[in-house]
Amino acid sequence: MTKVLVATEKPFAAVAVDGIRKVVEDAGFELALLEKYSSRDELLAAAATADAMIIRSDKVGEDVFAAAPGLKIVVRAGAGYDNVDLAAASAHGVVVENTPGQNSNAVAELALGMMVMAARNSYDGTSGSELSGKSLGIQAFGQVGRNVARIAKGFGMEVSAVDPYCPAEVMTEAGVAVCGSVADLYRNNRYVSVNIPATPETVKSIGYDLLMSMPKNGVVVNTARKEVIDEAGLARALDERADLKYFADVKPDSADELTARFGSRVFFTPKKMGAQTAEANINAGIAAARQIVAYFKDGCERFRVNK
Ligand code: 3PG
Repeated sequence: MTKVLVATEKPFAAVAVDGIRKVVEDAGFELALLEKYSSRDELLAAAATADAMIIRSDKVGEDVFAAAPGLKIVVRAGAGYDNVDLAAASAHGVVVENTPGQNSNAVAELALGMMVMAARNSYDGTSGSELSGKSLGIQAFGQVGRNVARIAKGFGMEVSAVDPYCPAEVMTEAGVAVCGSVADLYRNNRYVSVNIPATPETVKSIGYDLLMSMPKNGVVVNTARKEVIDEAGLARALDERADLKYFADVKPDSADELTARFGSRVFFTPKKMGAQTAEANINAGIAAARQIVAYFKDGCERFRVNK
């Protein structure tokens, strides 16, 4: 029987697992569950007999593909697939897919929540400021960026975005001003929401110069990936500009040092939780299960991300 392994170090909500199980079992497949695993060996042992895998930010590379001779498809229940070694997957003939858009509202809500938290001085009782009327620049107008724009407009923010891969009309139709460059985005916006994937072009691309160019009381909210930040440049900018804040759902490697040096001007969630809602888990998890069923039953590879 076709075995679908859900391998999630950070588990889905139970209700989402129930939904995934139903889709898998209704198709006549078997579900195996490996949650909160603490060692690579546990993952490899579970993968050994799997035909398909549903993962989140779980790292899947050569070791997994080598250990799982029957594996045909891995679906990352979420947007970013930088945790999967696509070349290794292709070398082993394994299809890799993601579920774009399924968890983006959850991430966007958290981004706005962090903006409110920064504006209200982390709820410390002092007088803060409002988001209404403030400028927000969105770095990348993908599914998360579009949801950030929609919600931010509800707060009365003045929203602009930069995205070399998104047609200007998409931004215009969403009522968002088109920004021509990343440099302009940071220079012109009090708030910046980072929504770019980690790619060779974006890694360490946000650092000292961009942060120093921000208007007074600039706030950067990063719900994307820690790798896109140049942490040394971030620390230097925070040191030289006492008005800047950096709030992230993706804990930097130097989190402890940054917190010790800059206190409440920085904030990091203990574990990436932008997509950690029941709704997002249900949407992304069930979409992943359906994509696996469609792959085995119809050969559908619509959301394939490797060649
Ligand atoms: C994504 O890329 O979909 C988000 O970063 C969420 O990741 P998660 O599934 O590990 O919470």
